[in-house]
Amino acid sequence: MQFIDLGAQRARIEGRLNAAIDKVVREGRYILGPEVAAFEKQLADYVGVRNVVACANGTDALLLPLYAAGIGRGDAVFVPSFTFAATAEVVALAKAEPVFVDVDPDTYNIDIDSLEAAIAMVKAEGRLTPRAIIPVDLFGLAADYDAVAAIARREGLMVIEDAAQAIGGVRDGVKCGAFGDVASTSFYPAKPLGCYGDGGAMFTNDDALAERLRSFAFHGKGETQYDNVHVGINSRLDTIQAAILIEKLAILEDEMVDRDRIATRYAERLAGIVKTPKLPGGNRSAWAQYAIETPVRDGLKAQLQTKGIPSVIYYVKPLHLQVAYTSYPRAPEGLPVSEALPSRILCLPMHPYLSEADQDLICDTIGDYVGHNAAMAAE
Ligand SMILES: Cc1ncc(COP(=O)(O)O)c(C=O)c1O
Repeated sequence: MQFIDLGAQRARIEGRLNAAIDKVVREGRYILGPEVAAFEKQLADYVGVRNVVACANGTDALLLPLYAAGIGRGDAVFVPSFTFAATAEVVALAKAEPVFVDVDPDTYNIDIDSLEAAIAMVKAEGRLTPRAIIPVDLFGLAADYDAVAAIARREGLMVIEDAAQAIGGVRDGVKCGAFGDVASTSFYPAKPLGCYGDGGAMFTNDDALAERLRSFAFHGKGETQYDNVHVGINSRLDTIQAAILIEKLAILEDEMVDRDRIATRYAERLAGIVKTPKLPGGNRSAWAQYAIETPVRDGLKAQLQTKGIPSVIYYVKPLHLQVAYTSYPRAPEGLPVSEALPSRILCLPMHPYLSEADQDLICDTIGDYVGHNAAMAAE
């Protein structure tokens, strides 16, 4: 059994993928070929934003907006601690400071009270200037953008949506990638919309910001490629990857229906056995991960392994406790949820091609193991 079965997806569209790759190789426009612009346009239409700027990976897609906004030394950027390292890493790379905020125990997304407290703390200390918030749509579920936007407006902060795990997610009719001043995503192969290597993109309705993002992603170019008006980087999506993504985007909605069906079945079969994900009303998760919680996590993981069922712990440690990030500021009341989750959380196989038989085996194994442990504890 696969944790994420990319082979099944490839088999479904193999002919189209091979033809698309072959065309790029034959035509030879490997850098910024026509497929890149075509994919940007199709993705912008899908997400419902004016501009998509493709780049080399999801980390650059978070870093470039910081450069474009001039965020750097002396600035504070508020990030959840329970996320992948890139969310905070880019802030430090831009020479600003990540301020770690706790997450909500049910959605695993940035906790609004903790965010408010962290902003108030930074303002009271006066050492750093609050500049931006990077909410993460963790595991495919949109953060609470109504609350985040209200705070950002009040405090004059930029919002950068980290939608690396969330293309295909929807909140109140708005697709993930369309929140904030700018959004970022990753096309790492295992993401809901993934390519066959590294890739990323930024989304914005602000045309001037889109131009700045394009410039910073292309050595700070001005009127021409050889006119440098900013110190930028080289961050482009390869034409081959764009050609692959065009074919994968064409089946994404179809795949979302299957992900939803599989998530619903997990929720039904695991109810009352382990804690299953809660979706706030109006949301469709992209289900990049299906995370459960149980106090007998380690034993359960080992038991699943004996049945050939892969499972992964996302994340084993919150960022504020990682060696590289311990010296950065944290929300004043601590981050108890981010610190407790790593000992309880477990991500189960989740992809659109998971068979009912495999899902039954997973759910039966969990039911048996957790039931047996509960019986032992009661004795
Ligand atoms: C939440 C989050 N942000 C950022 C990234 C960075 O993306 P990439 O690996 O494409 O640089 C990832 C991907 O792994 C992620 O999960």
